[in-house]
Amino acid sequence: MPAASAPAVISLASGYGSFAPPLVATAAATRVLQAAGPLPVAAVAGLPELRAALAESYQQAGASGVQPEHVVVTGGTKAALFALLQAVLRPGDEVLLPTPNWFGFWELVVRAGGTVRALPLSAADNYALAPETLRAALTPHTRVVLFSNPNNPTGRVYSRAEIAGWLSVTQDFPDLFVLSDEIYNGITFSPEPVPTLLSFPDPRQRHMVVNGYSKSLALIGWGIGYLVAPLPIAQICAAGLHATGSAVPVLQQHAAVAATRHASAIARSLIESLQPTRHRMQTELALLPQVPAPQAAATYYFFPDLRAYLRPELEPVAASAELVARLHATGVAVVDGATCGAPGFVRLSYAVPMAQLEPALERLRAGLSTPFSAA
Ligand SMILES: Cc1ncc(COP(=O)(O)O)c(C=O)c1O
Repeated sequence: MPAASAPAVISLASGYGSFAPPLVATAAATRVLQAAGPLPVAAVAGLPELRAALAESYQQAGASGVQPEHVVVTGGTKAALFALLQAVLRPGDEVLLPTPNWFGFWELVVRAGGTVRALPLSAADNYALAPETLRAALTPHTRVVLFSNPNNPTGRVYSRAEIAGWLSVTQDFPDLFVLSDEIYNGITFSPEPVPTLLSFPDPRQRHMVVNGYSKSLALIGWGIGYLVAPLPIAQICAAGLHATGSAVPVLQQHAAVAATRHASAIARSLIESLQPTRHRMQTELALLPQVPAPQAAATYYFFPDLRAYLRPELEPVAASAELVARLHATGVAVVDGATCGAPGFVRLSYAVPMAQLEPALERLRAGLSTPFSAA
C-alpha cells in the first residue's frame, strides 16, 4: 500500500502477524473436511496423533521424559495457561512474574484465583534475572514462577545456563511450580535454539509449559494451543476442560499435526520473511535521539525505551498512556509498555507488511521528534 493511501492509524500493536497459514496445515484440514460424514469428535485432551507428535517434538528438543499423556490440547494458548493456573492456584497464592512480560498474564492469573507479584527486571542489563534475585523474591505465598521464553514484549531469550540457575533456586521450594510460556520459541534470530523448560531435570514434577500455533507456526485464528504438565496436573486440566467445554475441533487438530511435523520449515520461512521488516525497524529505532538500541533476539517485537519522551509532570503510568495517545494521534498504534509492567516503553511489531511499516515508522519519528528530558 503506498504511503498516500495508508490508513489513518497504522497498527504496530497487534500480537498476530499477517502470515498466510502453512499449506501443509490447510491441506490437512481440507482433507478432513472433504471426508464423507460428520466430523469426528476428539477426546477432550486431544487427538492421539497430535499428542504423540508433540511429545515426539519435545523429546527431540531434549525433553526425553515427555509422553503423549502429559500433553493436553486446548482452544489456544490462553486457554492452556488458564487451565494450568486454575489447576495449581489455591486461595492466597501468588504468581511471581518477572517483568516486563506479556500483558495477558495479569488478568489470567486473577481470573484463575491468584495474585500477580511483579519482579521488575531492567533493560540496562538486558533483563537479566540472577538466581539470587529470584530467591529473594520468593515467599511462602509464591505458588508459580511464570515466565515467557522468548519474552513477549522484550524479545529476550533466556539461555540454558540462565534457566539452570533459576531452577537451582526453585528446586529448594517443594510447593513451587515453574511455568514457561514458549509460544514464540520458533521465531528466533540467533543460531541457538530456545531451550524448553521441559528439557531440564524435574525430580519433583513441578515444571509446566504452554505453547500454541498462532505465532511461530502461522496458524493465526485457528484457536489451538496446548499444555505439557506432570501427569496429575495434565489430568486435572483435561477433567476441567471436559466439564466446561469440548475438544478442539478435529480440523484444527489435524492442521496442528501437520504444522508440528513441519515446524522447523514453517518457522524458518517466517523468520526469513521477517528479516527485511526487522532490519528496517531496527535501523529506524537506532536513529531516534535518546533511545537505547533495543536488543531482541527473538519474537517479532522491539520494545524500545522511550522514557525520554514522557511528560515529566505526569506520573509514569499516566505519562506512558499519554505518550501512546500522542503516537496514536500521529497515526501509529503501539502497545503501552505499562500494560506489560514497564511504563515508558512501547511494544512495536514488525510482523506487518513493509508497505505499512514504512509510513508507520515515519509517523513514529514525527511523534518522537522532541524528547522532554536529557538522557
Ligand atoms: C506470551 C503469549 N502467550 C499466550 C498468548 C495467547 O496465544 P493464543 O492466541 O494461542 O491464545 C499470546 C498472544 O499474544 C502471547 O503473546
